[in-house]
Amino acid sequence: MSREQSSLEVEITVNGTPTRNSVEARTLLVHYLREVVGLTGTNIGCDTTSCGACTVLLDGESVKSCTVLAVQADGHEVTTIEGLADGDTLHPMQEAFREHHGLQCGYCTPGMVMASVSLAMEQGALSDGEVREGLEGNLCRCTGYQNIVAAVMAGSAAMAGVVGVSGNLGPEGGSK
Ligand code: FES
Ligand code: FES
Repeated sequence: MSREQSSLEVEITVNGTPTRNSVEARTLLVHYLREVVGLTGTNIGCDTTSCGACTVLLDGESVKSCTVLAVQADGHEVTTIEGLADGDTLHPMQEAFREHHGLQCGYCTPGMVMASVSLAMEQGALSDGEVREGLEGNLCRCTGYQNIVAAVMAGSAAMAGVVGVSGNLGPEGGSK
């Protein structure tokens, strides 16, 4: 990749699939995912690192993709909300959000789920306080925090019980 050109070639593995495209140096990862790759599950809420709606995993770590340039992800692996389910089987964290009604309008949900998956991979089954502290960078404009916390506690507990299950991100990390 030559940084002297205004258009740069990046190779980013997204949900296990290699992607290779030319981007402008200023292209944000969230725009690469939504507009170049066509994965629109990752939302943009603020564009200023405040809301967490754009959260994805970069090499297994949660990042706000509105603050990462696509060129910074060159050669790395990104997991988006579209990469969590195993076919028709929801990821345990997605299932927990469904079961515990952890969403209202759903706009914050992809970012909430991705941040929660990352948190659970790092810390295992989470307490109420750990969820609230760990997700303080993710905002819900519908303010349904009580159910979100319940969902993440349940989802992290379920993840702690699915180590090594093929196709799911478990507490030991890994990506599909
Ligand atoms: Fe990235 Fe709000 S859109 S933090
Ligand atoms: Fe509407 Fe969170 S469910 S923003």
